[in-house]
Amino acid sequence: MKRIIIIGASSGLGRRVALDFARYGFRVGVAARRENLLKSIKKEYPDRVEYMTIDVTAQNAVARFNQLIEKLDGMDILLYASGTGFQDPDLTDGKLEQTLRVNVVGFARIISAAYRYFRATANVHPGQIAAITSVAATKGIGIAAAYSSSKRFQQQFLDSLEQLAYNQQVNVRFTDIRPGFVRTDILDANKDYPMIMNVDYAAPLIEHAVLTCRRRATIDSRWLIVTTLWRMIPRCLWKRINLVSLGSQSDQVTEADKAGATCPLPQAKS
Ligand SMILES: NC(=O)c1ccc[n+]([C@@H]2O[C@H](COP(=O)([O-])OP(=O)(O)OC[C@H]3O[C@@H](n4cnc5c(N)ncnc54)[C@H](OP(=O)(O)O)[C@@H]3O)[C@@H](O)[C@H]2O)c1
Repeated sequence: MKRIIIIGASSGLGRRVALDFARYGFRVGVAARRENLLKSIKKEYPDRVEYMTIDVTAQNAVARFNQLIEKLDGMDILLYASGTGFQDPDLTDGKLEQTLRVNVVGFARIISAAYRYFRATANVHPGQIAAITSVAATKGIGIAAAYSSSKRFQQQFLDSLEQLAYNQQVNVRFTDIRPGFVRTDILDANKDYPMIMNVDYAAPLIEHAVLTCRRRATIDSRWLIVTTLWRMIPRCLWKRINLVSLGSQSDQVTEADKAGATCPLPQAKS
C-alpha cells in the first residue's frame, strides 16, 4: 500500500486530496495545526490515516514530520499543501512575516526534510515530492507581493532540488502543482474571482498530477493559457496593470493564528 503524507490537510485542497487518497486505498499521513479537523479525517478512515499536528513555522516542525513518517511506517509521496496569503497593498509587517514563515521557511524546512528522507531511503523505488504552488508565481503581483514571491520561491526551490537530486543520484521525482483560483478558506468568501474553480473540480486534477508524476501541472488548462499570456506581457506594461479588481487573498485569521501559533508579530488588521 503506497504511503502519502499531506502537510496542510486540515482544510481546502489538502483535506479533500487526503480523503480521496485514503478512499483510493493509500495509507495517508495528515498534518496541520487544527487537530480536530485532522482527527475527523482519521475517523473516516481509521485504518489508513495517521495524523500529527504540525505548525510548519515552529522549531519542532521537522521533528514532528519525522514522527509522522515513522507512524506511517515510511513515506512514498510528500504533498505540501500548507499555505497562507493576503491581499496586502500596505505591505504590513505581520502579514508579510506570516506569509513568508509558512510559504517559505516552513516549506523549505519540510521539503528539505522529505528530500533527506528520500536520499536515505529511496534507492529502488523513487520517492516523490509534490507541492501546491500557484499561478500567482508567474509574475510579481503588487497587491499580494509576499504571496506571489513566496510561490515563486517554492517553484525555484523544487527546481533547485531537482538538480541536486540529479547530481547526488537521489531517486526522487518532483511535482509542481500550480492552481488558479479555487474556492477555499484562503480566498475571501465575499469576493468574486475570475475563472474560479471549486474543490470538487480542482482536487481530482491535483491528484492526477501527483499520480502521474507530472513535473509541472497548471490547474486547469484555462489557467495554463492565461499564465502563458502573462509571461509574454513586457515589464513596462505589466507594471501598469491594476489587479485589485480580481479580488484578494483572504484576510481571515484562523483560530491558530489568533493564538499566535504562526506569527510572533501582532496580527495586522484586515
Ligand atoms: N485556493 C486557491 O485559490 C489557491 C490557488 C493557488 C494555490 N493555492 C495554494 O493551495 C494550498 C492549499 O490552500 P487552500 O486553498 O486549500 O486553502 P486553505 O483551506 O486555507 O488551506 C491551507 C492549509 O494550510 C494549513 N496551514 C496554514 N498555516 C499553517 C502552519 N503554520 N502550519 C501548518 N499548516 C498550516 C492550514 O491548516 P491549519 O490552519 O490547520 O494549520 C490548511 O490546512 C496553499 O499552498 C495555497 O497557497 C490555493
